[in-house]
Amino acid sequence: MDARALQIGLAGFGNVGAGVYLNLVRNGDLVAARCGCRLEVRRIAVRDVNRVRAVDPPAALVTADWRELAADPEIDVIVELMGGVSEAYDLVKAALEAGRIVVTGNKALLAERGRELFALARERGVPLLFEAAVAGGIPIIKAIQESLVGNRIESIYGIVNGTCNYILTRMQEAGIAYAEALEEAQRLGYAEADPALDVSGWDAGHKAILLGSLVSGAWVDPGSVVVEGIEHIAAADIGYAERLGYAVKLLAVIRRKGEAGLLEVRVQPSLVPSQHMLAAVHGVFNAVLVRGDVVGDALFYGSGAGRDPTSSAVISDLGEACRAKRGVIQTALINPAEEAALLPVDESFSHYYLRLNVDNLPGVLARVAALLGDHGAGITTVLQPETEGDSAELVMVLGDAPYGSIRRALREIAELDCTRETPVLLRLEPLETRATA
Ligand code: HSE
Repeated sequence: MDARALQIGLAGFGNVGAGVYLNLVRNGDLVAARCGCRLEVRRIAVRDVNRVRAVDPPAALVTADWRELAADPEIDVIVELMGGVSEAYDLVKAALEAGRIVVTGNKALLAERGRELFALARERGVPLLFEAAVAGGIPIIKAIQESLVGNRIESIYGIVNGTCNYILTRMQEAGIAYAEALEEAQRLGYAEADPALDVSGWDAGHKAILLGSLVSGAWVDPGSVVVEGIEHIAAADIGYAERLGYAVKLLAVIRRKGEAGLLEVRVQPSLVPSQHMLAAVHGVFNAVLVRGDVVGDALFYGSGAGRDPTSSAVISDLGEACRAKRGVIQTALINPAEEAALLPVDESFSHYYLRLNVDNLPGVLARVAALLGDHGAGITTVLQPETEGDSAELVMVLGDAPYGSIRRALREIAELDCTRETPVLLRLEPLETRATA
């Protein structure tokens, strides 16, 4: 054993675990030369040693017990790629308690138990690294913690779930319904057999919690974050959005008005202008638009999932682990002792898209407009497709207003005797760009 090498305990040899191993074999010399120490996989923990895999781990390194990794004093860094929360938590906790550096791509683990784990990492003075947990291969964590360290981050708009972005893209491109697009995503292997975590918005929610915690430097409580998925998005809304000059994206929004303002952290399907670069993020790709007070706007685009992109992120953390082994410790810019003060979602502002199905009678539009006006909502655009039947669709764009006012207006509109179906409301983010001097 080379004592100067970084000794790695790899927990999990699924798609990403195998990818990390293979890419270390492929680019190990390059990484060693750049990081100043060799990276050696010393032990690999798998759940089922007898499972037939596309890539077999070297038998001499394999154990069925992840506890061996945390207990091995020769191991410098534990790479947790097991997935799930319960066992992964036990492993990461045991590793940190034993003073091992931890690298994980497990966003659910960090969003749900990160407060305790980051506190433990601080207490023990060891890094807990998580580049792979947000937007896969896009190096957004290091961008925020290192490259943009001279900025106050004012906002982040992220397309951080490839499955949802694929479904929404296909609904727009092919004019197909949500169920058909989901079925296609599953057939092509983009969506899990159980896609609930993705389409409910919670995979993106976990990533938003981590981004919000980094931006604020305090812990974002998952219970206070509003997360809405894409299951209810109708093909009609994608079509109307397109006619109005917008694309529908599942958007993670993290932003703060002014330095003393409360932090907004939410994930909701949102219209973005068709000419904006985020609207051109198609298929399974991810993108994160960061606005810093010094840099202005910076856009990061790439693969948000997959074996190799995620391996790339894990290996970047192994580079960081090499520096930590030499004593250069970077703790996450999250102080878990503090809780981020979040803006109640009803006080958050945006523009809106509204679709109503109403009686096709004179005066109906005026009644709806008056009610919206009573709640301070201004109408920017109205679209009423020609109809000869006794019902009509009214599609509107509303100007900047608090979410709570719009929701109150909507409840009243839903109760009007001329309203035939539950109104559809989506956020709309104009996304003006900002350049600094
Ligand atoms: N399932 C996620 C996605 C990747 O579809 O983007 C892992 O977070």
